[in-house]
Amino acid sequence: MDFEKNILCIGAGYVGGPTMVMIASKCPRYRVVVVDINQEKIRDWNSDNLPIYEPGLDDLVKKTRDKNLFFSTDIEKGIKEADIIFVSVNTPTKTFGQGAGKAADLQYWERTARQILANADSSKIIVEKSTLPVRTAKAMERILNGSPKEISLEVVSNPEFLAEGTAINDLENPDRVLIGSRETPEGMRARKEIVEIYAHWVTRDRIIESNVWSAELSKLTANAFLAQRISSINSISALCEKTEADIDEVAYAVGTDSRIGPYFLKASVGFGGSCFKKDILNLVYICQNYGLEEVADYWESVVKINEWQERRFINNMLSNMFDTVAGKRVALFGFAFKANTGDTRESPAIYIARGLVEEYAQVVISDPRALENARKDLKDLKERVTFEMDPYKAAEGTHSIAILTEWELYKDLDYERIHESMVRPAFIFDGRNILDHKRLFEMGFNVFAIGKAPLKHF
Ligand code: UDX
Ligand code: ADP
Repeated sequence: MDFEKNILCIGAGYVGGPTMVMIASKCPRYRVVVVDINQEKIRDWNSDNLPIYEPGLDDLVKKTRDKNLFFSTDIEKGIKEADIIFVSVNTPTKTFGQGAGKAADLQYWERTARQILANADSSKIIVEKSTLPVRTAKAMERILNGSPKEISLEVVSNPEFLAEGTAINDLENPDRVLIGSRETPEGMRARKEIVEIYAHWVTRDRIIESNVWSAELSKLTANAFLAQRISSINSISALCEKTEADIDEVAYAVGTDSRIGPYFLKASVGFGGSCFKKDILNLVYICQNYGLEEVADYWESVVKINEWQERRFINNMLSNMFDTVAGKRVALFGFAFKANTGDTRESPAIYIARGLVEEYAQVVISDPRALENARKDLKDLKERVTFEMDPYKAAEGTHSIAILTEWELYKDLDYERIHESMVRPAFIFDGRNILDHKRLFEMGFNVFAIGKAPLKHF
């Protein structure tokens, strides 16, 4: 079959993989190739055991793979054949040199840009899919325009807003698709081509066009706003614990104001995930670079409150368990940074597990999807950490349970049975406010939730 267009995606991770699967499924006349330097990952994308878990992903891969969707490690061939190249390589926080701990590490991006330049022998559109600092497109243009070849490599920004666990639904029914380009004739032509891809399934009113800098900055800003809402509600949760106000009631009352809205107001042990912290710190760094110290401080406080909330959770466990957890078994229910994913990047559970181990607790970790990643995250703590898929077994002989991920399964467990198997007094720390606290208290548990008065028997 002759395909109308060849699309390449460099980077087969959480963003590139599902996005290309969706494009392939919605655009059967386009040939979509996804490449990565990581051979193992590509092998997994070509197997029945995909490298990431997303509800609905397996089915879509089965329908498209080897028809118009291909996974490969041959990056150079992919570049040569492509009309449009999405770049979806990782942009972690820099760990060295200037901007360490804040700025985005653009080395993978730059390497990719140079690889495109070296291998492209026809004109192409280069699409920034990874979240990048505002004005990265400028740097990319400088590199890509360094070619003596008579070809045009036009840079377009098309940030991805999907959230993990709901990636397929977010891709299929996005609130909006954002496409930013230069406002030159070439830029506008490139923009139109990217719009055409999404117009296969997204209505025109949901496809937003903008200049390239606005698109880059909107992605950072959207993540900063979402995280800021969580830090805002989490900061108030601490005040609730002091005043007998209930954070869920406050969030509901506040969120029913249509100007505020109900989303992202769920108090928790803290936000995790690969994006929020990284993107805010990146925003902070950019502001500092432009001499906007007040703006930088404002956004940095969102991350600081999050770290404080995680620390507060550990301190709360410690102080309520008679100021010591040394030698006590503690079960963590959930290790993923949120439900419906096996991803543990920046999960508050990592910090909590480490904090408890520092206090010499014996930590048992349970999670339906994330144990493999949890083992990697805590590989240096072998002696004090064990892993147990079955929550009933994980809870046996423990002094306390901490709910760290809002998996549905934790709501419906037989807590009478769990209580029977624990050391008394038994504690539950609900870091996601998903359990029926009153019922647990009546069973005999001492219950501590986020932003609520404690329910204790002593
Ligand atoms: C986020 C953005 O939502 C998405 O648009 C962007 O593309 C990538 O970053 P993701 O990190 O996958 O997506 O998950 P998200 O659902 O935003 O949750 C992030 C963290 O915030 C999780 O740890 C979650 O548990 C926490 N959270 C979320 C809360 O604590 N309270 C809430 O009300 C919402
Ligand atoms: P995200 O959550 O943004 O998708 P991931 O870390 O899940 O981030 O995915 C990024 C992918 O990009 C990884 O699979 C990584 O191996 C890949 N990658 C990084 N650098 C390159 C490169 N130069 N060429 C091809 N793939 C790359």
